[in-house]
Amino acid sequence: MTTDSKNKAKILIADDEIRVREILSRKLTDNGYHCLTVPDGNSALKILKAEPVDLVLLDIMMPGKSGSEVLQEIKLRYPDTAVIMITAIADVQTAIGLMKMGAYDYIIKPVELNVLSLSLDRALEKRELIIENRDYQLNLEQRVEEQTKKIRQSFLNSTTSLAYALEAKDKYTHGHSERVTEIAVTVARELDIPKAMLEKIRLAGLLHDVGKIGVSESILNKPGKLTSEEFELVKSHCEVGERILSPIVEDKEILEMVRHHHERYDGD
Ligand SMILES: [Fe+2]
Repeated sequence: MTTDSKNKAKILIADDEIRVREILSRKLTDNGYHCLTVPDGNSALKILKAEPVDLVLLDIMMPGKSGSEVLQEIKLRYPDTAVIMITAIADVQTAIGLMKMGAYDYIIKPVELNVLSLSLDRALEKRELIIENRDYQLNLEQRVEEQTKKIRQSFLNSTTSLAYALEAKDKYTHGHSERVTEIAVTVARELDIPKAMLEKIRLAGLLHDVGKIGVSESILNKPGKLTSEEFELVKSHCEVGERILSPIVEDKEILEMVRHHHERYDGD
């Protein structure tokens, strides 16, 4: 642990023996820690409620709440606070059990200050790593979410551009795609189609005629009857639409809706 973070670490010493509190507090303050002392578990919890503490040195046998009860509450309410149990030699088995409940370590009385110092440094280092790792994970999730939103927005922008490009070319299509979308979505809602599929239908509706970009304007806007060759070209817009969209639309069902939007029910 760096000298800087060590200087800032706040240690709460909870022990009913005043002598233990005084010795530990003096030694740890000399070592650069900021120390608070309390004589029992309830006072320890009061402090924790009022201000964040990096680590608690917690005596197992205290009047009122036992060290194990206090540990449980700390782990539940202040999981970022590390705990080291202080125990008499007779309670070592209990202390080991408490490590399974989340205590980082235990120190046997009479406390050897060098052993305590080492254990403290390790506990605080581990705590820092856990917090850093959790913050990193949180940031990562947030960043992935932001990127996903950006990608989705960029996709919607591309599809809107295509719809605009078609509208600019074909007067008939202006407003037609929106109307088709509205009717298709209304019918789908009546049929209780799931929401995810409604979104696909909406997109397919907006883009279904995009293949007309590949048909000449003179044919699209021809006032009279089309020749059979011209009609064949117009009919190709479903297939052309699927091809235009395939690099940006991954969803097969949307591509199929575009490709088959002039099919009869019997597939003729
Ligand atoms: Fe069409």
